[in-house]
Amino acid sequence: MEIMVFFSLLLLVCSVSTNQTEADNEILDHQILSQQPCPHDINAVLREMAVSMAGQKVRITFLEKENQDQAAKLESQKTEIERQKTETEQLKLLSKEQAAKLETEIDQLKLQSEEQEAMLESQKTETDQLKQELQDKKVAFSASLLDQDHTDTGPFNTETPLIFKHAIINIGNAYNLSTGIFTAPVRGVYHFGCKVYGHESIQTGGLLFKNGEKMFLIHEHQKTAGGVSAYNGVSLLLEVGDEMSVRLWPKSMVCDSKNHHTTFSGHLVFTM
Ligand SMILES: *[C@@H]1O[C@H](CO)[C@@H](O)[C@H](O)[C@H]1NC(C)=O
Repeated sequence: MEIMVFFSLLLLVCSVSTNQTEADNEILDHQILSQQPCPHDINAVLREMAVSMAGQKVRITFLEKENQDQAAKLESQKTEIERQKTETEQLKLLSKEQAAKLETEIDQLKLQSEEQEAMLESQKTETDQLKQELQDKKVAFSASLLDQDHTDTGPFNTETPLIFKHAIINIGNAYNLSTGIFTAPVRGVYHFGCKVYGHESIQTGGLLFKNGEKMFLIHEHQKTAGGVSAYNGVSLLLEVGDEMSVRLWPKSMVCDSKNHHTTFSGHLVFTM
């Protein structure tokens, strides 16, 4: 009998939904009581109490189970929050890393553009230098002694500088018209030529000097009257700043006119 009641009670409790209310519980109690004949002895009271206790126990078990479920749910929510927090942290870290990476990349690009600018600047300087060098390589001059009516120069007892005052060309301005000195602007092989013209029965002659040192003689001597010429051409390796000039050979004479008989010429053949 007791077992039967307990099972029917259990069935009733199990059929009750989780949203059970206080009112539902009262109905349940009433049902339990109504299934029992009204007790008149102590045994009946005890049975009733046992039934009631069993009912309470089932409810407690049910509540405990619900509690456990909610705790588990809470735990899983906590885990989820924790997971999301971790994810957020990771994203933050990642975005920080990306920002740092970007900054580094920008710095590198800046450096690169600075380097390219410097390279461009140095290339410009190099180009300018090459232009200048090319300009320096254009060296040529030709000058006659005078540009006036027939005039004799000499004779003198000593070597006398000849200043060829009438330039036909003077590219690179390496030849100085007021001193008669050619100064090498670059290291290289140069070619020089000097022609002297004389007349009467007196010798004509010139001397080509390099830095005050005698290099070549241009000379002619005839015993009879009349015009006479001499020429000498040389190639020389000159260093920057080397000076070339012509002097009148002692006791000789040169003459020049608007016809340009007596000349001094030179040009750069190639640099070295
Ligand atoms: C020629 O030489 C003189 C004297 O050394 C100098 O004063 C002058 O500037 C020079 N001229 C040129 C064109 O170099």
